[in-house]
Amino acid sequence: MKSSAPGKVILFGEHAVVYNRPALAVPVTQVHADVEVLDSPRKGVWINAPDINLHAELNSLPSDHPIASVILKVFQRFDISQPPALNVSITSTIPVASGLGSGAAVSIAIIRSLSSFLIHPLPDKEINSIAYEIEKLHHGTPSGIDNTVITYSRPVYFIKGEPIETFTVGKPFTIVIGDTGISAPTKESVGDVRRLWLHDQSNFENIFDEIAQIVLIARRSIESGKPEMLGELMDQNHAFLQSLTVSSPELDKLVEAARNAGALGAKLSGGGRGGNMIALTEQPTAESVANALMSAGAKRTIITEIN
Ligand code: MEV
Repeated sequence: MKSSAPGKVILFGEHAVVYNRPALAVPVTQVHADVEVLDSPRKGVWINAPDINLHAELNSLPSDHPIASVILKVFQRFDISQPPALNVSITSTIPVASGLGSGAAVSIAIIRSLSSFLIHPLPDKEINSIAYEIEKLHHGTPSGIDNTVITYSRPVYFIKGEPIETFTVGKPFTIVIGDTGISAPTKESVGDVRRLWLHDQSNFENIFDEIAQIVLIARRSIESGKPEMLGELMDQNHAFLQSLTVSSPELDKLVEAARNAGALGAKLSGGGRGGNMIALTEQPTAESVANALMSAGAKRTIITEIN
């Protein structure tokens, strides 16, 4: 049984979304996690994930291992205490710890393919809620935006704990994603923001409110077919993320390079400190913005159309 889940980028609202403000995120289908579950001739549940050099039987892994914990959760969901002999093969083109949702995509592809293999394909709502449980195990206090946008593979306007809301794209627009190549676990930046927030709640709450305003205007601009307005909003959102301390010299350098190469605006995307940034471009300048990002130190770029 095969299943695939895309990567994602957050367009606006990361970090503030952990504090119940809205955020906008879209799937990125150019990168994906792929899982295949098959009967195994050998007893046991065999996990093969060549990208991370993992070839192991489920019971040999700690129960909080990121992959083992997903498989165990699915067995638990179906009250399976003696799993059948099976092979779980996992590959992914989503860079790890880069803000593109690699962990959530792997979890979701496993839940989907394993539940189908067990002849109980789960609905998206339940896949999403199992994936959120896993995100909480590994990422501290996640908002749930990553698992939601990846499960539904649609643009989402997300508020923590509220039913999923998608938004329409009035006119397609082009985003260039630039990867610093620096691995930056979201758990750390989210944890650091929480410590700072605890010390200075009123200042941080104000920043989150400002970001929430940007998200609302951005959603309106996207829906009403005026994506060019997003450039300025990205610049503003990036400045607020800098004041939350989640940018880094490398991210700032890429953001600056994109703007200098003609992007309409740019910001970090996701947890920050490393990982990815995004830039809004007119379609014809996307290639030159991507080249400018590579010259400024990006390890890879993705040009993606949001529609
Ligand atoms: C990570 O992709 C987005 C953050 O807002 C964390 C979260 O929402 O869980 C930084």
